[in-house]
Amino acid sequence: MITVEKLTKRFGPKLAVDNISFSVQKGEVLGFLGPNGAGKSTSMRMITGYLPPSAGNVSVCGFDVVEESLKSRRRIGYLPENAPIYSDMSVLGFLKFCAELRGLFGDAGNKAINRVVQLCFLQPVLHQSVDTLSKGYRHRTCLAQAIIHDPEVLILDEPTDGLDPNQKHEVRTLIRRMGRDKAIIFSTHILEEVEAACTRAIIIDQGKIVANGTPDELKARAPLAGTIIVGLRGASWQSVEIELGKLRFLERSELISESDSRVTARLQPKGDLLPEVLELAQRQRWQVEHLNVDEGRLDDVFRSITLPDTKRVSVQ
Ligand SMILES: Nc1ncnc2c1ncn2[C@@H]1O[C@H](COP(=O)(O)OP(=O)(O)OP(=O)(O)O)[C@@H](O)[C@H]1O
Ligand SMILES: [Mg+2]
Repeated sequence: MITVEKLTKRFGPKLAVDNISFSVQKGEVLGFLGPNGAGKSTSMRMITGYLPPSAGNVSVCGFDVVEESLKSRRRIGYLPENAPIYSDMSVLGFLKFCAELRGLFGDAGNKAINRVVQLCFLQPVLHQSVDTLSKGYRHRTCLAQAIIHDPEVLILDEPTDGLDPNQKHEVRTLIRRMGRDKAIIFSTHILEEVEAACTRAIIIDQGKIVANGTPDELKARAPLAGTIIVGLRGASWQSVEIELGKLRFLERSELISESDSRVTARLQPKGDLLPEVLELAQRQRWQVEHLNVDEGRLDDVFRSITLPDTKRVSVQ
């Protein structure tokens, strides 16, 4: 539903988006991650047709966003970073205005407004003037205008920014639910949001795509992913260290604690180490008291990919 090909944006000498390509299918929720200034909002503005690219193409539902901008925009809902909002209107008035802009009048308009008021929890502020809204409600009003025409494609620039934890949770759930029959791109700095709502994530750094995969695939790239912490009973570190040293898939082992014939150690794998360790424990009659495999953390992946070498998470 969204195809981005070699998309590039220059602002004078500044290369804000550098030759990025990807596509998003129906049913996919794509998370856009990246440090401040990486080029996320600029990419989104080009995908929605609000900013002309310096080079490259974007098509939405088969329509080129530059050549056939009306057709593509009709199919897109967009929540911009700093959403403009008509401050002298009430929330209801603003939504009615947005519905009419989308060609939804009368009954169809009322239905659409009711739907987004429910989805974005706007009931308590419906008759309040937009310029007196709190930041969270203002943000939710903007989200409501983005989905009022129930578009096939949604581009949401930091949709949970400024929301309280309950509302963050609600908006993530809403995105996940809407994602089943739409194509959604949303940007965020909250990595747990990616795990909660995205089917896939792209990390952008200095205008380039530096990672693209499911949240699980990205986590597996964390520097410490796969590390095993194991607690053994009936063993001494001296003997454990010798036996571990014979394993094919052990990269490194390190003692965490030892007391009363109990040993806790950290094991760094270089292959499928877990079955080897379990088999060794059984053979040596060591009792496995606890075992934990680090599945990797997205923020470690994010840091290791987007920080300069000197500040990277150390790979032990
Ligand atoms: N209109 C503009 N003129 C000049 N430079 C711009 C313009 N818009 C964006 N930039 C620059 O392009 C780069 C990318 O900005 P962009 O807003 O896309 O980053 P972002 O990834 O959305 O960051 P954030 O996480 O802070 O929202 C930045 O260096 C920014 O200063
Ligand atoms: Mg931005």
